[in-house]
Amino acid sequence: MTANVTVIAHPLVQHKLTLLRDKTTPSADFRRVIREIGLLLGYEATRDLPLENVPIETPLEPMQAPRLAGKKLCIVSVLRAGNGLLEGMLDLIPSARIGYIGLARDEATLQPAEYYLKLPGELGQRPVLVADPMLATGNSAIAAVTRLKQAGATRIKFVCLLAAPEGLAAFAAAHPDVPVFTAAIDRQLDHRGYIQPGLGDAGDRIHGTKG
Ligand code: URA
Repeated sequence: MTANVTVIAHPLVQHKLTLLRDKTTPSADFRRVIREIGLLLGYEATRDLPLENVPIETPLEPMQAPRLAGKKLCIVSVLRAGNGLLEGMLDLIPSARIGYIGLARDEATLQPAEYYLKLPGELGQRPVLVADPMLATGNSAIAAVTRLKQAGATRIKFVCLLAAPEGLAAFAAAHPDVPVFTAAIDRQLDHRGYIQPGLGDAGDRIHGTKG
C-alpha cells in the first residue's frame, strides 16, 4: 500500500535537514535546527486548517476577515525525540494544546511499549498533529496513532523529519486515513531498525546523550 505522504522539498527544509544529518553538528545546533525545521514542517501540515470569517474593524473600515475556525489544534509529541519538532511547531501555533505519548522501543523486538500518556480533552474536535522525527519501522508511529484514535482523535496528521520506505508501507496499511509529512524518504532500515543514511538516534542527538 502506498502511504499518503507529502515530502517537503522546500530548499530551507532540505538545507536544515542536511545540517541535522551531518554527524559533526553539535547538540546545541541540532536542537536549534530541529526546532526551525519543526516550524516549517508544521506550516506545510496546517495548510488546510479551516477558516471562518469574523467581523473586525481596521483603522480604515469594517471588514469580514478570516481566522482559524473550531477548537484549538493539538500537537502530540512522541517522547522523547518528538519534543524537538514540538518546540518549532509551538513557535508557529503558540495557542496549540499539547499532548504527550511516551513510547520506549525495545531494541530486541523493535516493538514500542507505552510508559506515559497525557492528552488534552475534546480530542475528537481538534485537528491533531503527531510529532515524531523518525518514521523507521513504523511501529511507534502506528502505536501512537492507534492510541490517539482510541482517545477519540479523528483528524490526525503525522509529521516527521525522515521516513523509511518500510515504515511508510506499514503505517499506510495500519492508518490509511492519516497523511504523513516528511522532509525526506530515505533508502532503507539497517538491522537495528535505524534509517539509512538517516541522522542517527534523534533523541540522543537532541539531548546530547549517547545510544
Ligand atoms: N529512531 C531514531 O532516532 N533514528 C533512527 O534511525 C530510527 C529510529
